[in-house]
Amino acid sequence: ISDDTPTETLRERSLAAVAEYITSGKAKRIVVMTGAGISTAAGIPDFRSPETGLYANLAKLNLPRPESVFDLLFFKENPKPFYVLAKDLYPGNFHPTISHVFISLLAKKGLLHQLYTQNIDCLERAAGIPPELIVEAHGSFANQRCIECKTPFPADRMREHVARAEVPRCIRGAECGGLVKPDIVFFHEALPMLFYERKDLISSADLALVMGTSLQVHPFASLPNYVPEGVPRVLFNLERVGGLGTQADDVLELGDCDTGVRKLADQLGWREELEKEWRDL
Ligand code: APR
Repeated sequence: ISDDTPTETLRERSLAAVAEYITSGKAKRIVVMTGAGISTAAGIPDFRSPETGLYANLAKLNLPRPESVFDLLFFKENPKPFYVLAKDLYPGNFHPTISHVFISLLAKKGLLHQLYTQNIDCLERAAGIPPELIVEAHGSFANQRCIECKTPFPADRMREHVARAEVPRCIRGAECGGLVKPDIVFFHEALPMLFYERKDLISSADLALVMGTSLQVHPFASLPNYVPEGVPRVLFNLERVGGLGTQADDVLELGDCDTGVRKLADQLGWREELEKEWRDL
């Protein structure tokens, strides 16, 4: 009779077993999937946490719905609320967290197969993760352009507009006059091609780490489902999300992600190196 219980890759569903799996050399290709939860410790609010989440604090902008601030159709009607918010979110004033540095340590050790992030704060790049290993699935503030004619808008002028919460318009002036928007993926916008091109790398991963995301927004939220049976998935999150915990090799490390990552680093014997990397950033 074939025993149809899936063979477990991990000795047990614990960080200690995950650490053993990594130090054994069996986990060479680690994919990481992240959301706003890994940047809250940097002082950037996430979106959906009840009290502190961005969506709970947009009352002053009296939007139809909180997500409207990132909705293309709403933005075309009224771009001002986004630019009021952009001032608070704009990169440059925040420092990568221990979780960001842990991912850059994986890359340093040649273990990072790919990082898929939903965050637009560019803290992954700031943490030293090689850009060619990063998929910014929801874009980022790194560049901006006219939404009508796609003409790029100069970064220095963008900073000025954001600092004054002023709405920038196309540099072609009267010829176009379109609204300028950062290359952030708004609701009703397509994700970058890179997301679809790199998604397939997940099927060749040996280990998946899911960190700081509610897994509420598709298509990103479906990424953990591409992890093959028998490949361990570790969730570092305050709460259980998505289908994590339903596969034989799922490990749930519920709680603050920096704390969970430090625990894994301790098990790996990387803690000293991790703290030093973070201090030296
Ligand atoms: N440690 C661990 N988990 C945390 C921490 C933390 N310090 N802080 C927050 N979290 C968890 C929250 O409990 C929640 O499950 O991180 C998750 C954050 O979820 P969201 O706020 O929904 O953020 P995210 O999943 O990145 O949102 C996805 O929604 O609005 C869109 O485009 C936007 O990219 C964003 C997408």
